[in-house]
Parts: sequence; structure tokens; C-alpha cells
Amino acid sequence: MNLDMMEGAALVIGAGGGLGAALVAQLSGAEGGSPAYSAVLGLSRSSLPAIDYGDEASLKTAAGWVAEQCAAQQLELRLLIVASGFLHGPEGQPERSFSQLDAGYLAHVLQVNAIGPALVMKHFLPLLPRQGRCIAAFLSARVGSIGDNALGGWYGYRASKAALNQLVKTASVEMTRRNRLSVCVALHPGTVATALSQPFAKTGLNVRPAQEAASDLLAVIQCLQPGDTGNLLDYQGLTLPF
Ligand SMILES: NC(=O)c1ccc[n+]([C@@H]2O[C@H](COP(=O)([O-])OP(=O)(O)OC[C@H]3O[C@@H](n4cnc5c(N)ncnc54)[C@H](OP(=O)(O)O)[C@@H]3O)[C@@H](O)[C@H]2O)c1
Repeated sequence: MNLDMMEGAALVIGAGGGLGAALVAQLSGAEGGSPAYSAVLGLSRSSLPAIDYGDEASLKTAAGWVAEQCAAQQLELRLLIVASGFLHGPEGQPERSFSQLDAGYLAHVLQVNAIGPALVMKHFLPLLPRQGRCIAAFLSARVGSIGDNALGGWYGYRASKAALNQLVKTASVEMTRRNRLSVCVALHPGTVATALSQPFAKTGLNVRPAQEAASDLLAVIQCLQPGDTGNLLDYQGLTLPF
């Protein structure tokens, strides 16, 4: 593990989700491995402070809290992982056909998967250091790839992840101007056994436990280089088309 990393802090946003919780556990050594960072912070809708993508002020307050925590421990924030996301819920289900498109569902999926992470960029990317290695990783999805879309369906989720990928690419350009060693990527975790995938995890799919997926993602993150910035990579480190 890079020394800069070990001496720094890591933050997971969406820490209450299946993948978010597994990432926090692995980063803090709770799964038997040694802790990779000196401090691991998690934010979710039920943390203190809580974040809510519908309330930008909550993100501003939470970013201030993270800055205070890092300053108190004299640590730089070296890793930011955004593990929030929405596919199905009371707000609606992914569409099988354009006849099922629904404005309420579209607004919600875009809010959680694209607008929320964009506001996270606004309030949390300035906390990353201007010198030395630092990483911002946003959990995206292969189905957000326009080039890879052969199956159709899932209009809103696909569009929201494609929007996220563009936001990540755009932020990566700005981050490189700020710090040439920074890396900002979108990551596809594969199909993982969480509440998000549960109704759609058909037999025959390679559905991996969240701990395994978190371990794979952290291995990819550890190997990221500045030349990878702006890319969409999968959990094996392969670059996927946009
Ligand atoms: N599971 C898969 O097979 C799979 C496949 C491809 C991509 N992904 C992506 O991986 C990421 C993690 O997914 P997961 O499987 O861990 O899903 P999950 O268990 O359902 O967790 C979703 C997370 O999103 C947060 N969230 C949902 N609605 C929110 C809102 N309105 N405001 C703020 N946060 C909100 C939840 O927040 P709280 O912590 O506050 O509850 C939770 O942390 C997502 O971006 C997902 O699209 C997952």
C-alpha cells in the first residue's frame, strides 16, 4: 500500500448500502485484513451528520465535518468512494419498454445517480489534496455504457449512469489541472448480492457477495494510475467503453 494512502483518510459516501458497508468494513480492517487508511469515514442518510441528495445544504455540512475530522487528525483525504445508487423502490421500477417511461421515476433515478454525485463533486472534491496521490471513485454500472448497450431496457438507470460517467470524465480533467497525480474514475462493480440487484439477480448471472466485490474494487483502486483518470473500469480493472 502506498505510504501516502496509509497516512491519509478514506471516505465512503453511501456507507449504509450493501457495497458501501462492505467497502467501509474492508478499508477499516474489520474483515481481518490490516487497515489500509489511518481513518475511514462513512456518510449516509442515517449517519451523523446525515447526507440527503435532495438537500444540498446537508452535503455542505457533511463536507465541513469531514474537513474538521481530517484536520483534527492531521490527515489528508486521499480516497473518496461514492457508493450510493438507485435502481428500484417506491419511486418506481426500471423500464422494459419506452411505453413504461415515467417522469417521477426518471427524475428520481437521475437525482440519486447523477445529480447527487455531481453535488458530492462540488462539495467533496475540494477536500482532496493538491499534491500527491488521491483518488475519487464513483460506483457506476456497465449498463451506463452507450457503446455496450445491446439489450435495451432500463432507460432511466442507463441514462443516469451515462450522465454520471460524463460527470466523472469532466471532473477528472479539472482534477488533473489541480493535482496531476489525482485519479477520478467510474467503477463497475459487477453484479453484486445487494438490495439493489436482488429482484434482478437471475440464475446464470455471476452474482458475487458484497465483501468479494468490495475487495475486488479496492484492488482496482490500489492499482489506479493518473493515466486511468476519467475512465470507466470494471472490478477486474478492464477499461469499458463509454
Ligand atoms: N449491486 C449490483 O449488482 C450493482 C451492479 C452495478 C452497479 N451497482 C452500483 O453500485 C452502487 C452501490 O449499489 P448497492 O448494490 O450497494 O446498492 P444498495 O445496497 O441499494 O445501496 C444503495 C446506496 O445508495 C444510497 N441511496 C439510495 N437512495 C439515496 C438517496 N436518495 N440519497 C442518498 N443516498 C441514497 C443508499 O443510502 P443509505 O446508505 O443512506 O441507505 C445506499 O447507501 C450503486 O451506484 C449501484 O448503481 C451495483
